[in-house]
Amino acid sequence: MDKLVITNRGQLHGSVEVSGSKNAALPILMGCLLAETPVSLSNVPHLKDVTTTIQLLASMGVEVMFDEHLNIEINAANITVKEAEYDLVKTMRASILVLGPLLARFGEAKVSLPGGCAIGSRPVNIHIEGMQKMGADIQVEQGYILAKAKRLQGADITMNPVTVTGTENLLMAAVLAEGTTYLRNAAREPEVVDLAEFLNAMGAKISGIGTDVLVVEGVDSLKGVPYEVIPDRIEAGTYLAAAAITHSRVTVTKANPKHLTAVLEKFEEAGALIESTEDTITLDMRNRELKPVNIVTDPYPLFPTDMQAQFLLMNALADGESTIQETIFENRFMHVSELIRMGADIRVDGNTAYIKGVKQLHGAPVMATDLRASASLILAGLVAEGETVVNRVYHIDRGYELIEEKFHKLGAHIYRLTN
Ligand code: EPU
Repeated sequence: MDKLVITNRGQLHGSVEVSGSKNAALPILMGCLLAETPVSLSNVPHLKDVTTTIQLLASMGVEVMFDEHLNIEINAANITVKEAEYDLVKTMRASILVLGPLLARFGEAKVSLPGGCAIGSRPVNIHIEGMQKMGADIQVEQGYILAKAKRLQGADITMNPVTVTGTENLLMAAVLAEGTTYLRNAAREPEVVDLAEFLNAMGAKISGIGTDVLVVEGVDSLKGVPYEVIPDRIEAGTYLAAAAITHSRVTVTKANPKHLTAVLEKFEEAGALIESTEDTITLDMRNRELKPVNIVTDPYPLFPTDMQAQFLLMNALADGESTIQETIFENRFMHVSELIRMGADIRVDGNTAYIKGVKQLHGAPVMATDLRASASLILAGLVAEGETVVNRVYHIDRGYELIEEKFHKLGAHIYRLTN
C-alpha cells in the first residue's frame, strides 16, 4: 500500500488551483442516468471515487468517453443493467445515489445496501422511506435494496436529520415523478445546489434551490447538456489550513469563496488575514499567532464536518485551549489518537474534543481511516519535527487530486512510497 512521506520545510509559498468538487461530481455523474441523450461534464476531478463511479455506470451499460479537453461524455441512452453490485458499493457508499435515478427512469433498481464506515453507521433509511412515500415498493433482501415502481408519484417528504445524499437521491427520484414533490428540511450544501442546477439544465423543474424546501414538479424526460462542476470547497479549505499552520501566505485559485463563508470566518478568528476575489482566496498567516477557536460542526451554511479534522489540528498548534464538537457523525475523531502520537494534547469525551495547544509536534508513522483524517495527518507532517509517514494513502486518493504535486508547487517536501 502506498505511503506519503512528509518532511517539515517551513513556510509554504504561492498559489494552488482547486479541482472540481468530489461531492458535487459524484451525484451529478449518477444523475446522468436520468438523461436520454449524452451529457458532457467539465471540471470533474481525477479521483478514485470518480473512477469507481465511472466503473459503476459502465457496469450498467452507460457509455463513458473523454473528449480532447478531458471533459467526460456520458451516454445513458441504452442502460442494460439496473443494478449496483456489492463489490462496488462496498468501496464507495455514494453508489447508493443510483437508486433514485434508476427507479425514476426505469421503475426498477437493485442496489447493494451500504454498510457502516469508519466515521459512523451512516444509515440510508431516509432515502428508502422517501422513495416509499413516492409509491415505490422497496424490500431489503440478502443485503440488497430491491425497488420497484410503476411511475413514482409526487409526495410531501420531511427528512430528519438533514442529509446531503438523502436529499440528492430523493431529488433525482422526484424529477421524473408524476406530480409535485416537496422535500422539506432539505440539505442546502453547495453540492446539493449544483446537482439541482444540473437537473434543471437538463429540463427538470426544481424551485427553492439553496433553501431547505425543494419543490419539484415532475417532468416526463430529461435531455443531456454540457455542465461544469463547482470547485471543491473542502480541498480549498484544506490548503488554506496548511497555510495557517505553517504561518504562510497562500492563494487558492479557481475557488468559490461564497461556499466557504463559515470556514473563512473561523480562519479569521484563528488570526489569519483573508482576502477574496470572485474566484480566489488568499490566507496570510505570516508573523501572526495561531489562536484557538471553538467549533461545532453542523449542516451548511454552518461549519462543515469535512473541515473538522483540519481545524482540530490548527487548534492542537494554537496558543491556548479549545473545544470541537462533532454533531454530524458519531465516530469522526479517528485522527485524534494519531495526533496524540505526534505530541498533541487532546482528550475526547463523547462528541467533543478538548484541545490544549502545544508548541511542537513530532514526526511519526501514522495511519488514518478516513479521507479528512488523512488530510489532517498530512498537514501535521508539514509542521512536525522530523519525518512523518502517512499510511493508507488510498483514503487521500479518494478525495484530493494530485495532492503531492499541489503541495510541491507550494514548496512542501512530500513524496509517495509505492509498494
Ligand atoms: N442519516 C440518517 N439516515 C439517512 C441518511 C443520513 O440517519 O438515511 C444521518 C447520518 O448517519 C449522519 C447525518 O444523517 O449522522 C448526515 O449524513 P449525510 O447523509 O448528510 O451524509 P452523507 O450524505 O452520507 C455527505 C458527504 C460527506 C459529508 C456529509 C456531511 C458525499 C458523497 N458525502 O455524506 O463527505 O461529510 O455529507 O456533510 O457527498 C467526505 O467527503 O469526506 C465525506 C465524508
